[in-house]
Amino acid sequence: MDAFEIMKQRVSCRAFSEAEIEREKIEKLIACIDRINEEQGLHFQIYTGIGKQQSVVGLNRAMFSGKVFWYAALVGGEDEISAEKVGYYGEELVLLATSLGLGTCWVGGTYDRDSVNPQIEPGEKLWDVIPIGFPAEKTPLKQRMIRNSLRKKTPAPKEILEGDTAYDDLPEWVKTGLQAILDGPSAVNRLPVHLVCENHNYYMKIYKKNSGFEWNDLGIAKYQFWYAANALDVHGEWEWGSGGEFQIKSQGVSYLETE
Ligand SMILES: Cc1cc2nc3c(=O)[nH]c(=O)nc-3n(C[C@H](O)[C@H](O)[C@H](O)COP(=O)(O)O)c2cc1C
Repeated sequence: MDAFEIMKQRVSCRAFSEAEIEREKIEKLIACIDRINEEQGLHFQIYTGIGKQQSVVGLNRAMFSGKVFWYAALVGGEDEISAEKVGYYGEELVLLATSLGLGTCWVGGTYDRDSVNPQIEPGEKLWDVIPIGFPAEKTPLKQRMIRNSLRKKTPAPKEILEGDTAYDDLPEWVKTGLQAILDGPSAVNRLPVHLVCENHNYYMKIYKKNSGFEWNDLGIAKYQFWYAANALDVHGEWEWGSGGEFQIKSQGVSYLETE
């Protein structure tokens, strides 16, 4: 799968099959988590309940079906930039899992807190859990309806654009990045971020507060944009924070071809 297929494939999985995940896939997730924790000072953890009768994490039965035997606990600092990093690197983990054929869902609210017990140091909090498993072969009607009803509210790309450039005049790679933001997850699908284009520079900001997960959502949106740009050979790095700039480091040949 290429980057765009992976992003399309990633949807919130709320119906799991009980098939066991191969060890080599779990090793890849663990290596990713170890690197993120070491480089970013986050405290992501992965837990399993293999061999148990019940799911390793108590997901709300009104929304989820099937059992999950693995989940990631996204633990990080309580401050806003840590919350943004949880979003950014959590989405890296989610897209890696997707590329391995696994189903995931960002879950910040609809789980039983008593069912999870990650290590949390002073100054840290558990932001979200990510159940990880194989998606059910056929998504049941209920889960399809939940997703359709949440996704109905997704805005058009030009609705999340601000600044001095009309949507039609944006470079193709930026249009693709906007679409990647919209294809990505956000809490209750209320995407609280805008991309701001000023003088050919690009910034991402939180423009509304609505769910308590805005900083996670900002990080996720920045990762989705980065991932799409990177796949089109536009290599950059985001500054952290609301209003942080996408600093372009290099642009390859395929970028020129998309102009
Ligand atoms: C930070 C965050 C928290 C979320 N919390 C929940 C949750 O508690 N329960 C749930 O069913 N989905 C949750 N979601 C999933 C969103 O509802 C979902 O991403 C959004 O509706 C878009 O749909 P999609 O991910 O299928 O594309 C969360 C997503 C994010 C980014």
